[in-house]
Amino acid sequence: MKNQNELTTFSHELKNSLTLIYSQLQYIEQTHPELLADLHWSGIKDDFSSVFDMVRHMLTPASDASAALEPVDLTSLLEEIKYSWSSKLKEHGIRFSVQAEDSCPYYIKGSKTKFLQIFNNLISNGVNAINRKKETAREPLISVHVSREGSFIVCSLSDTGIGMTKEQQARAFYRGVSFEPKGNGIGLSVVSEIAKDLDISIHMDSALNQGTTFTLIFPGLADTAK
Ligand SMILES: Nc1ncnc2c1ncn2[C@@H]1O[C@H](COP(=O)(O)OP(=O)(O)O)[C@@H](O)[C@H]1O
Ligand SMILES: [Mg+2]
Repeated sequence: MKNQNELTTFSHELKNSLTLIYSQLQYIEQTHPELLADLHWSGIKDDFSSVFDMVRHMLTPASDASAALEPVDLTSLLEEIKYSWSSKLKEHGIRFSVQAEDSCPYYIKGSKTKFLQIFNNLISNGVNAINRKKETAREPLISVHVSREGSFIVCSLSDTGIGMTKEQQARAFYRGVSFEPKGNGIGLSVVSEIAKDLDISIHMDSALNQGTTFTLIFPGLADTAK
């Protein structure tokens, strides 16, 4: 890991490049207004904004780094995430399903950027796990299910990937621990840090060669408003 100074320089330079890319995206949108109706285009812009937010967050002094907390409808967010991932999932032949117990909004409180970080890390791991599995008897699938338990909102994300041994499960959330040839072991540690900040509990259930399920339990809005 680089030191804080190098990291700040890097974030600063990255922000400059992102600003340039963003102004070009805006120019393209102005000259091609038909893009406004394209869900992939809005997906690119959303993903871009979350990278931008993360970099801005890195450049903000810790004292005023509190991310904006806002009610976010989990099912709408998951549909947006589904669009962002659709090309990648198609490329790997993976189906992505989102199901909610009822059609009312599932409001959770936090910053959209943080929620995107959580889900993007979990989905990215799910895609890797599916790609590493040799057996293809079952349809490659990432499925997300949303329900209510009292005042809590429960979201489970399952994949049909390679799964983990008990030993791997015990260490998977540690920073720097990876069992992937090209992994860096950062993803799940980021997920657990954000979850801790936002009072989300996470449970992991995995079986080797069967798949993995992450269950996230979000406090309902009534609880977080206290
Ligand atoms: N859905 C999953 N299925 C199987 N293994 C997983 C899954 N998610 C995480 N893992 C295991 O946990 C390890 C740590 O994950 P992560 O912190 O995201 O780091 P990385 O993806 O860089 O390896 C991964 O290397 C992988 O072995
Ligand atoms: Mg990862």
